[in-house]
Amino acid sequence: MLQSPQARTTEKSRRLFERANKYLVEGVSSPSRSTANYKPYPIFMKRGHGSKIYDVDGNEYIDFMMAYGALSLGHAYPKIVDVVKRTIEEEGSHFATASEIEADVAETMCHKFPDVEKVRFTNTGTEAVMAAVRVARAFTGRKKIIKFEGAYHGWYDDLCVSAHARPPDNLGYYNDPIKNIESSGIPDEAFVNTMVVPWNDSDILERKISEQKGEIAAVLIEPIMCNMGVLLPKEGYLQTVREITEKSDILFIIDEVNTVVKLALAGAHEFYDIDCDMSTYGKALGAGFPIAAIGGRSDIMDTMRWGGALHYGAQNANNLGLNIVKVNLEEFQKPRMYQKLFALSQKLKDGIKECLDRAVVSGIVQGEGPIFQIFFTEKKSIQNYREFCAYVDRDIYPKFVYRLFERGIYTSPSASLHWTVSPVHTSEEIDATLKAVADALRAVKST
Ligand SMILES: Cc1ncc(COP(=O)(O)O)c(C=O)c1O
Repeated sequence: MLQSPQARTTEKSRRLFERANKYLVEGVSSPSRSTANYKPYPIFMKRGHGSKIYDVDGNEYIDFMMAYGALSLGHAYPKIVDVVKRTIEEEGSHFATASEIEADVAETMCHKFPDVEKVRFTNTGTEAVMAAVRVARAFTGRKKIIKFEGAYHGWYDDLCVSAHARPPDNLGYYNDPIKNIESSGIPDEAFVNTMVVPWNDSDILERKISEQKGEIAAVLIEPIMCNMGVLLPKEGYLQTVREITEKSDILFIIDEVNTVVKLALAGAHEFYDIDCDMSTYGKALGAGFPIAAIGGRSDIMDTMRWGGALHYGAQNANNLGLNIVKVNLEEFQKPRMYQKLFALSQKLKDGIKECLDRAVVSGIVQGEGPIFQIFFTEKKSIQNYREFCAYVDRDIYPKFVYRLFERGIYTSPSASLHWTVSPVHTSEEIDATLKAVADALRAVKST
C-alpha cells in the first residue's frame, strides 16, 4: 500500500545533504545524483529489497531506476545474497590471479553471446569501452572513432565528444554534427579523433566514412540509445550500419552496457540478431556489482596480449563479482524469464500511455522490453538527438517525477534517462504505479 503524498517527509535527506555537501563534491559521487537532477536536494537511500527502495526517512518507493539499470534482479535478490555470503565466507573476495570462475563465466559468454569468441573482464562500462577503443586502434592501426550524436559511452576523453543530452544553442544541420562537450579538461585531439554522425541516418554515416577512408578504426554504437531517453533504431538500421562497416573494413563495436541481460542475455545485438566485431558489457552484467567485460572476435581480442594494446587492472575479474555474474546469467536463462519480463513491461508501458491519453497530456512511451522512457512531446516518435532536443519537454519531466516520488515511485528525474522493469516487479506493483502516474499527471497539470 503506497503512502499518501501528505504522509511523507524527506527532512532527514535534507539534513544529510547539508552534511554530505561539506565533504563530498556536490554531496554525491556522480553529478547525475546531484542537484543537477534532484531538486532541492537528493533523496538519500538507505536500503533496497526486491523491487523497493527505502530512504533515510523511512519512505518506501517502487524502484524503476534500479541503479541506472544495473540491478537486473532487483535489490538483494535471494540467490545473489546467498552467493555473496557463500563466496565471501568460503573463498574470499578477490585474488587478482588466474581463477576458475573467470574461465567459467567467459566460457558461458563465449557459448551464449553471439560474436563473443574471447572475453576480457574489467570493472565499469567506461573501462570496457575505453579498452575496446584502444584495441580497435591497435588492431587497425588507425586513430579515428565514429560515434553517434548525443550518445554516452562513459566519461573517457574521446567519448565525451557529443555525449550529453543537454542541447547546444544552435543545432545546425545534420551534416554539421554537434561536437559539444560537457567537460573541461578534455584535450583538443578528442575532437579530431572522434567523429560524430546522427543516429538513424545511414547515408551520412556512409558519406563520413568515404570522406575519411583509411583513418577510421571503428564505429561505436549503442544499439538502443538509452541516454537521451530511449531512442530505438529504425527498422533495418543496425543491419545497414553493420554492412557499411564490413564493406569499409572498419570494426563495429556494439556497446551493450545498458542492454546486456535486459533485452536478451547478450543484449540488443542478440535481440535484433546483428553481428559485430566487439561488444562491451557492464551494469546489469554484475546485477549491481561492478563487473564489466569486453568480448569479441578472437583475432581482435588477442590484440590485448602482453606487448599489444595494454589493459591492466588490479580489480579485474573480481572473484565475488564473477560468482555473482554466474548466478545472474543462470537466472536469465530460466524458461520464460524474458516472456514474463517483457509482458510485465508491456503492461506498464501500455498503462502509462493510457494515463497520458486520459489526462490529455501529449506524450509517448518509447522503448523496447523493460527499458523505456516517457517523452512529453507532440511527436509520435523521437528518432535522434536533435528531435529529442527540439521536441521533448525536458522541464516538465522532472516535475512529474518529483510528484511520483511523493507517491512512492522512484525513477530518475532526468528526461535523458529511462525506466527499467525487472523480473522482481509484480503485476500489483504495476497497477499501483499506474495509479500513481495518473495522480502525478493530474498534479502536474493542475500546477
Ligand atoms: C551505453 C553506456 N556505455 C558506457 C557507460 C559507462 O558505464 P559506467 O557508468 O559503468 O562506467 C554507460 C553508463 O551509463 C552507458 O550508458
